[in-house]
Amino acid sequence: MRSLISILDFSVEELADLIATAEDIAANPEKYQEACRHKTLATLFFEPSTRTRLSFEAAMLELGGNVLGFSEAGSSSAAKGESVADTAKTVSNYANIIAMRHPKEGAPFVASQAATIPVINAGDGGHQHPTQTLADLLTIHREMGRLNDLVIGLCGDLKYGRTVHSLIEAMSRYSGIRFVLISPKELRLPDYVRCNVLDAEGIPYTEVTSLEEAIPQLDILYMTRIQRERFDDAAEYERLKDSYVLTAQKMEHAKKNMAVLHPLPRVNEISVKVDEDPRAAYFRQTLNGKFMRMALILKLLEEAKQNSIREAVDTDGWVYDKVCTNAKCICQTEQELPMAAELIEGVYRCVYCEKKVQ
Ligand code: NCD
Repeated sequence: MRSLISILDFSVEELADLIATAEDIAANPEKYQEACRHKTLATLFFEPSTRTRLSFEAAMLELGGNVLGFSEAGSSSAAKGESVADTAKTVSNYANIIAMRHPKEGAPFVASQAATIPVINAGDGGHQHPTQTLADLLTIHREMGRLNDLVIGLCGDLKYGRTVHSLIEAMSRYSGIRFVLISPKELRLPDYVRCNVLDAEGIPYTEVTSLEEAIPQLDILYMTRIQRERFDDAAEYERLKDSYVLTAQKMEHAKKNMAVLHPLPRVNEISVKVDEDPRAAYFRQTLNGKFMRMALILKLLEEAKQNSIREAVDTDGWVYDKVCTNAKCICQTEQELPMAAELIEGVYRCVYCEKKVQ
C-alpha cells in the first residue's frame, strides 16, 4: 500500500501511466462509473479549499464511490486538540482512502504513517501540493503535446507557493527543461527546492524580478497568488501583494502558443481580460485536476487491494539530535512525534518540512 505525499513518490513512468488513464477517463467516462463502487474517500480539510476538495469529491462520485469528511478544522476534533495521527487512525475505520489538507508542513506524511489506508497530500502548509502537480502535468501535456524541452516561467510567490515546489520537483525529471523564476527577492524559491532539486540535478534556471522581460522566452507561464495566510508580517504582505499582474497587453509579448497556468484561486494577478485569450489554460486545468484525481484514486486503491501493508519509510539515515525551529512544521505540535533530520546534499533537514535544522 502506498500514499502520495510528495510528487517524487511516483516515477516518471507512473506519471505517464496516470496521464494515460486520465485521458482514457476523459474520453470514456462511462467505463469508470462503477470502478469504485462501495469504496469511500475521506476528505480531511483543515484549511480552506474549493477546487482541490470538490474535485476530489467529484472524482470519487464519478467513479461510483462515496465521500465523507470535513472542510474546516473547527468542525473536527482537531479543535479539541486531537492529533493528526489519531485522526488518521480513526478515519481508517470509516473510509478506504484519505485526502488531507493541513496548514502544518509534514502533516499528511505523519497521517500516512498512522493510517492503515492510503493518504493523499492535498496541500501541507507552504510545503508541497502533489495533486495540483498532477493537474499541472496533464495540462502541460494537453496544451503543449509534451513534457520535455520547455522553458517554464514560475511567477509570484515562489517562497510560500506549495504548488510551485511540487511542480519544480516533477518537471526537473524531464529532459530539456529550463526554469525562469520570477519573484520579488523576498519571495524567492526556498533553498531546499533550489539546492536539493535544481542544483543537485543540474537543472538550468535563472532568477529574475521582471515578468515583462521574462515573458517572450516562455513556453509555459505559471502564475501564482501571493499567499497571504503564510505571511508572519501583514505589512510585508500589503507591500508585496500586487507585485505581478498579467494583462492582455503583457500577453502580446508572449509566444503565440505559450500556455498560461494558475492553480487558482486568483486574486488579481491575472486580469480577467486574459481569460478570453486561447492561451489561458487555467480553467481547463481545473477540469484536468478532476481526471488526474480519478486516475490517482484508482491507482492507490488498486495497489492497496494488492498489498494492504504500508510501504515502510527508509529511516536508516535519520538522526534525532537536531532541532527543527520551523513554527509551521508538524513536529512542533504533534504529540510525541520525534524530531528527526536527514543529511541531504550536505545539509541536515527536518524529515517532515525539509527546512534546515540546528
Ligand atoms: C493552491 C493551493 O491551495 O496551494 N490552490 C489549489 O489547490 N488549487 C494555490 C493557492 O491557494 O494559491
